[in-house]
Amino acid sequence: MIRGDIKALAAYHVPDSSGMIKLDAMENPFSMPDGLREKWLKELAKVDINRYPDADMFELRKKIAKHEGVEPQQVLLGNGSDEIIQMILIATVPGTCVIPGPTFVMYNLVSQWLKRPVATVPLAEDFTMKEEHFLQVCAREKAEVAFLACPNNPTGNLWKQDRVEKIARGISGFLVIDEAYGPFSERTHNYLISPNVMVLKTFSKVGWAGLRMGYVLGDAEVIAQLNKVRMPYNINALTQASAAFLLDHFDIFEAQAAEIRDERERMASALAEIDGIQVFPSQANFLLVRVADANAVFESLKQAGILIKNMHGSDRLLGQCLRITIGSKDENSALLAALREILT
Ligand SMILES: Cc1ncc(COP(=O)(O)O)c(C=O)c1O
Repeated sequence: MIRGDIKALAAYHVPDSSGMIKLDAMENPFSMPDGLREKWLKELAKVDINRYPDADMFELRKKIAKHEGVEPQQVLLGNGSDEIIQMILIATVPGTCVIPGPTFVMYNLVSQWLKRPVATVPLAEDFTMKEEHFLQVCAREKAEVAFLACPNNPTGNLWKQDRVEKIARGISGFLVIDEAYGPFSERTHNYLISPNVMVLKTFSKVGWAGLRMGYVLGDAEVIAQLNKVRMPYNINALTQASAAFLLDHFDIFEAQAAEIRDERERMASALAEIDGIQVFPSQANFLLVRVADANAVFESLKQAGILIKNMHGSDRLLGQCLRITIGSKDENSALLAALREILT
């Protein structure tokens, strides 16, 4: 009945955050401006939910294609980029999936669900990775697919551009460059798209986490093949209408991302000044820090009403590490005040 390896897995755990300052899941802290919210609700009121949603979503894909500078045939939409990771792992030949370690957990988790072998390329202590090393593992394992989060989660660093380029050109299986945190970093990799290189994106981190919408950009023929394992009507009608509307106002979300980038720099400097905190460089909307006792700091922050992510114990390289999402100015200041109190 239920597979033994599924029984052995733990379900994806989302902690209760009610009433807390929520800095654990890389969400955008800003709610929608009032004027925009009203216009958006008018758009939603037009949706006929007695009908199935638009199955092909050509107009929406056209809009996203324009936004990204590609053709609509190069765009595939998913119920969050998580769903696209699943589609890629379903559709590709079930050989080894290569990932850096540590990285985003879903690459490994979905591979396990699908009984796909995973090879992890451990990062250096400073979370860098040599492209030769990654390519060697891909060649040795005859990798069918590899994922490279740029910037990486949970470390926050962005691999050097020439290294990503060398991996993109040197790999013989598929390379998925995951730009979930691209809006907070200095570059995009759309220019590397080829018959075996795809770029994965999401609207979750720029302010629409509740909508669940991600997309992958790739070679049109590859996208057509991946589309065959997409669940019919995977993007619900309200999300489609919301995305079509919000894309016309994307400048608002870009301005918010810029504010988050500024706050990240303020937080990185302020945290580095607190005795007992080591801050790692980040190009994402979160900071990874190391303290003397991550469990104790995590619990004390929780007592103070602030939820962050405790990474201690999740990977050899993440000992005593905490991941802090960049929130609003007030939320960040509250976190700084609490940390100063806890650590001094
Ligand atoms: C690197 C990376 N990729 C993809 C995702 C999934 O994003 P979503 O499914 O919300 O689009 C996340 C979420 O944390 C992530 O960190």
